[in-house]
Amino acid sequence: MTTYRICLLPGDGIGPEITAEALKVLGVIGDRCGVTFEFEQALLGGAAIDATGTALPEATLTCAYASDAVLLAAIGGPKWDTTDPAKPRPEQGLLGIRKALGLYANLRPVRIFDALRDASSLKPEFLEGVDMLIVRELTGGLYFGARARETGVEGAGAHGAAGMRAYDTMDYREFEIERIARKAFEAARTRRNRVHSVDKANVLETSRLWREVVHRLHTAEYADVELIDQLVDNSAMQLVRYPAQFDVMVTENMFGDILSDEASMLTGSLGMLASASLGDGTALYEPSHGSAPDIAGQGIANPLAMLLSVELMLRHSFSMHEAADALAAAIENVLAEGWRTRDIADSSTLPQKTVGTDAMGSLVAERLQG
Ligand code: IPM
Ligand code: MG
Repeated sequence: MTTYRICLLPGDGIGPEITAEALKVLGVIGDRCGVTFEFEQALLGGAAIDATGTALPEATLTCAYASDAVLLAAIGGPKWDTTDPAKPRPEQGLLGIRKALGLYANLRPVRIFDALRDASSLKPEFLEGVDMLIVRELTGGLYFGARARETGVEGAGAHGAAGMRAYDTMDYREFEIERIARKAFEAARTRRNRVHSVDKANVLETSRLWREVVHRLHTAEYADVELIDQLVDNSAMQLVRYPAQFDVMVTENMFGDILSDEASMLTGSLGMLASASLGDGTALYEPSHGSAPDIAGQGIANPLAMLLSVELMLRHSFSMHEAADALAAAIENVLAEGWRTRDIADSSTLPQKTVGTDAMGSLVAERLQG
């Protein structure tokens, strides 16, 4: 019998609640496919800061390295919010584990569920044909470049007085651009064969290098894929003007962070957007949303982005495509039957079909059982 080891990182806020639903669904899938999933839980983010003083304890990395995949729910919350650079922040845990595992490629599929067309903030006619994949570079750029805060900098304060100065650096090397572009071209070949490469080449040096490297690779190895350059401000506009133009969108770390939140609203809710972070070793799966501290502990969070992340894990880490398809179909069916969590409910949702986290997870698990 095949056994897969999963390192579970429930994290903060709604994290533990949606993790429970992932476990429920994986239990059914294990039985159905004759596969054993072994879970080891570890601390990340605020929960780790509270328990150990650091957002990414050594034991968490050990757990991740020893596993076939990492499933992460969400981290962060107001309790740990600080602008003091000397204090630990939950996000350091997330960025740290991405870097440590070498997860340079973050795939965020933006998929429209038929039943949720009315939940989108766009009119339904704009969603016709929308099916895109955002390929976000995840271990470079502004997130990881040199940064500092300096005090007593002459002229940095008001009226020419000494004051503080801070900087972050956007830094990219050729190989980092090439390997993420390769992921995008490869993905496009399995889809509609089109890549939008998003940059700010009219201003930034990193973007000019980005464009050169993407085009060089395209000419050398992927000339069969349609390649379109788009400036990031234009992309932000095109995403709400005509989102169906996109198949694969590849972009640097921070642009991808911003544009994927924007694109998630096409699906109706940030609670619907899954992600896979891939490198050359163990991969990590997490919803694109945060820890939603405002609704934590109330049992009302939408677990579907987490379950869709499980779907990505089944596909990318375990090659369990049949199970992944069945999970996607189960989610589709539950939505088609009218079941909604609060975030995706609208005026047409029957009150008795507005359900909480636990019920939504159970519905998906039941449909999977057949
Ligand atoms: C995301 C999140 C993270 C990011 C935060 C929590 C550090 O917004 O995964 O999109 O910016 O990458
Ligand atoms: Mg984000």
